[in-house]
Amino acid sequence: MTHSVPKADITHAAAVLKAGELVAFPTETVYGLGADASNADAVQKIYAAKGRPSSHPLIVHVADAVQLANWARDIPPAAHVLAKKFWPGPLTLVLKRNPKVPDAVTGGQDTVAIRVPSHPVAQALLREFGGGVAAPSANRFGRVSATTAAHVREEFGDAVACVLDGGAADVGIESTIVDCSRATPSLLRPGWITPQQLEAALGAPLAAPDADAPRVSGTLEKHYSPQTPVMLMEGDLVIELAHSLTRQGKKVAVLARTTLRPLIDDLVWRAAPADAAGYAHDLYANLRELDQAGCDAILVEQPPEVAEWYAIRDRLNRAAAGSGENH
Ligand code: TXA
Ligand code: MG
Repeated sequence: MTHSVPKADITHAAAVLKAGELVAFPTETVYGLGADASNADAVQKIYAAKGRPSSHPLIVHVADAVQLANWARDIPPAAHVLAKKFWPGPLTLVLKRNPKVPDAVTGGQDTVAIRVPSHPVAQALLREFGGGVAAPSANRFGRVSATTAAHVREEFGDAVACVLDGGAADVGIESTIVDCSRATPSLLRPGWITPQQLEAALGAPLAAPDADAPRVSGTLEKHYSPQTPVMLMEGDLVIELAHSLTRQGKKVAVLARTTLRPLIDDLVWRAAPADAAGYAHDLYANLRELDQAGCDAILVEQPPEVAEWYAIRDRLNRAAAGSGENH
């Protein structure tokens, strides 16, 4: 459901970036909140708008892999293999940083995260702009990422004047992040590109995650969270708990997969697509909608424990983490 943006809007957005201001733009994963990555003052505005601690590094978006050397150094062969296979696309590589990269982008770390997005509007913007665009997901810190331009406006209101509307993001969850800054590549954040696909491309296993890995804020235990407490459980428990909470006078929302809607008055019910791609595509829109229904809890039916659902389960676990403390 990608849609195009008039050329004049792209030209305007690139000028806004050059002037050191923020531009929200679509990517195939989620919307990004972008600033000129070579301008530390501009990058600082991202942290202010998001309410994000400035120690959390940002992803630099570039139009093609040719620009890697402007941002990274000592790029290992494995990074080139992954770039060739998955770019443009929903993959972010963490590499040793080029000394020119402002500390504001990297959170002062010796590494930098880089991605070449495939969304045609992101591509057009990056080509017109010419340089790198530092962009986190376009949501306030800790909240659910935005997958439409309307969600971006919900998050930031007038604080971000320039929002390019490229339609609903295709993938719907954030990019897979792979650390290529150390001897063996390792997975820092699961995404639509699975560990199995990465290992197949590399022809070797990924390294197990360890304590020395670069920091990733998207891996904070609680993240991607609606304001309403989220509880994750098997389908039969969802129905049971929905009944019992309702009897206690609570208003309940359910994000269901396959079960039939129970006969409960005032139950807010959302049936998610049965396939992983459809589920991911709708996930954040569904969570936003359920969050806005004024319920006491969002009960989420646990997806299957198979590779295809790995990144979705990761996001749901984080959405649910810490929810119990809110009761
Ligand atoms: O799909 C995506 O990746 C979206 C779109 C807009 O590209 N962006 C996104 O950005 O999800 P953000 O900032 O919400 O998440 C990026 C993650 C953060 O968890 C950050 O900690 C991690 O990337 N990251 C950035 N630079 C890093 C670095 N040098 N080392 C390790 N992790 C890094
Ligand atoms: Mg984010």
